Amino acid sequence: MNVTFFSTKPYDITFFEQINADFGFTLRFLKVPLDETTAELVTDSPVVCLFVNDQANAAVIQKLAAQGVQLIALRCAGFNNVDLEAARQHGIRVVRVPAYSPYSVAEHTLALILALNRKTHRAYNRVKEGNFSLDGLMGFDLYGRTVGLLGLGKIGKVTARILKGFGCHLLAFDVMEDEEARQLGIEYVSLVELLNQSDIISLHCPLTPQTYHIINHDTLKLMKKGVMLINTGRGALIDTQAVIESLKSGQVGYLGLDVYEEESHLFFEDLSDTIIQDDTFMRLLTFPNVLITGHQAFFTRNALASIAETTCRNIQAFSQGTVSGNEL
Ligand code: NAI
Repeated sequence: MNVTFFSTKPYDITFFEQINADFGFTLRFLKVPLDETTAELVTDSPVVCLFVNDQANAAVIQKLAAQGVQLIALRCAGFNNVDLEAARQHGIRVVRVPAYSPYSVAEHTLALILALNRKTHRAYNRVKEGNFSLDGLMGFDLYGRTVGLLGLGKIGKVTARILKGFGCHLLAFDVMEDEEARQLGIEYVSLVELLNQSDIISLHCPLTPQTYHIINHDTLKLMKKGVMLINTGRGALIDTQAVIESLKSGQVGYLGLDVYEEESHLFFEDLSDTIIQDDTFMRLLTFPNVLITGHQAFFTRNALASIAETTCRNIQAFSQGTVSGNEL
């Protein structure tokens, strides 16, 4: 079975070729992202394998269907970039990797929290230049702080367990509540209570029509002054313009992002020789209390091996006419 990959990076090839030795698919790796201009590159391939910034909107799906595509295999957990209704209408099935390593994202969340708090990113540069002054580097003890987790699924819960180890008080808002979380000592509260009471707020819900810009002018006003806001979920959970206003006023004291709502034009590429046109993103980079990584939270060798394995199993189930359990 032929499988065409979009947005391929060298590490995708390494991990998929290794795992595919046990599956025997014919893998075709395209570097370009999927969009309306590249959909027609798929020939004689019933399966396409997509990543987070490949755009499978209705127009693209129509083109994929015309090229004979029957399965979209997402090599990621989030599926906000696929028009599921359009896929259904064209008889294209969609599978994803619902869980690979929640530890990868949770641990990166902690990396952002710790670096922002203790200003490690600034200290690193200072020391390299022989500047050992501590002015401006003061942090706070995480012990005893209240952390609000917006979305308490697999990643949210691992994040909670780690934060428990620091001695944090944990609040959560989720549309579903589970007993395991209560046993961990996490207190479920309303969204307003979470925003009011948290010193640190971390986003771990999926991007859906309900969560689009869940952090906006109104919800930012409900937060404690100087709050630390972390987003390793999806960029459009935050209204970036609104958060910039809140950074300027001091309402948001720290911002840690691994995702950005317009990231598809930026992330995963080396743009260091180009003039970046996104003024909103460039404004974010000017704040000393903003730390941005380019969607790397998932990027551990454990996660990549697990993603490749589950994706190949998903495709195998399709090729054998069965279901993997990871269908959307
Ligand atoms: P999950 O499905 O286990 O958990 C998501 C939780 O969010 C669930 O408990 C769900 O009930 C809750 N939720 C759904 N709608 C909500 C709403 N309107 N308000 C509050 N809570 C809501 O997913 P998992 O594995 O924990 O991943 C969470 C998100 O993290 C993914 O959807 C994805 O967007 C993002 N992610 C980011 C990665 C990165 O590299 N930065 C890598 C992997 C995932």
